[in-house]
Amino acid sequence: MIQIRDVKKNYDGHDVLDGVDISIPENSVYGIIGKSGAGKSTLVRIAGLLEKPDSGSVIYHEETVSDLSGVALLERRRKNGMIFQNFNLFSSRTAGENVAYPLEISRFPANGIKSRVGELLDLVGIADKRDSPISRLSGGQKQRVAIARALANSPDVLFCDEATSALDPQTTDSILSLIRELQRTMNLTVVMITHQMEVVSRICERVSVLDGGRIVEEGTVHEVFSRPKSPVTREFIAHLMPEELKELPTTTVAGTDKYRLRFTGAVTDQPILSRLLRTFPVEVNILAGTIHQLSGEHMGELVVELSGEEEARTKACAWLSIHGIEVEEYANE
Ligand SMILES: Nc1ncnc2c1ncn2[C@@H]1O[C@H](COP(=O)(O)OP(=O)(O)O)[C@@H](O)[C@H]1O
Ligand SMILES: [Mg+2]
Repeated sequence: MIQIRDVKKNYDGHDVLDGVDISIPENSVYGIIGKSGAGKSTLVRIAGLLEKPDSGSVIYHEETVSDLSGVALLERRRKNGMIFQNFNLFSSRTAGENVAYPLEISRFPANGIKSRVGELLDLVGIADKRDSPISRLSGGQKQRVAIARALANSPDVLFCDEATSALDPQTTDSILSLIRELQRTMNLTVVMITHQMEVVSRICERVSVLDGGRIVEEGTVHEVFSRPKSPVTREFIAHLMPEELKELPTTTVAGTDKYRLRFTGAVTDQPILSRLLRTFPVEVNILAGTIHQLSGEHMGELVVELSGEEEARTKACAWLSIHGIEVEEYANE
């Protein structure tokens, strides 16, 4: 368990982290999602012990590690792997030499480095690239080298700061699958820092939403995104809508409003819309619909136009909410 307790960080008079509390369970993939400037990279540097908080603490298992220094800090840091958006590889070294680097500077036996590097490159699926200069590798291959390097000293935790943000969707998929597989086979704790909803919905189990230096929501991916409470979480979920459905014509007809309806769990088995129409004098026009996968669970989402008298529309929305459907007024982004 990694605990972040009331962590604050101020840069140039600006509260970048303003009292962050998170508990990250072991042996899972934990997501921290937020927009650019939310404080994600600052948080991961503090959680990974590259930087100290102004106040608050970072606790690994039961041990407060944020006040470690000297050799104890270096040793503890070695048990953390980190990967970044821009890979941070040595461009003058080959893939194999990059992976060898952390072994050279740790107390790894010199005569075992060669085989360990081979083993690590094999683990990330690029054993054949050992002697390739970094400049010859694709983005996905570079991230694989970075992952192999991060795992060299058998860390307990892998921190990934926007690890797939520079990659195309297909490569993103393959890197996420690799991270998931490594998490399972090595019993790693993986912390995924991202602004990409796809990353969270594909591989994370729990998630925190960071906004303006504060955690605004926390829970399982399904809980957080099927019942979004904060505007920023709603924005992230809106990104999951297929592109062609994001831009819907604006309504000009009086007495008509557009809503997003989200269905999860038991309500997905009920004929809820036909019951709505029998109960209230409203009409429903379905404009768009999709099913999202949230960490393996389904969530249905419909964008509908509801027409009728204002009172009937208000009552219809309240009725839907009571019946477990998340109702949100729809605004074109
Ligand atoms: N070392 C630093 N010195 C001064 N300001 C910083 C530093 N690191 C981050 N910031 C500021 O903190 C805010 C959050 O940055 P960051 O943690 O990188 O956010 P994110 O990763 O979510 O985009 C930004 O306004 C950024 O300019
Ligand atoms: Mg960042």
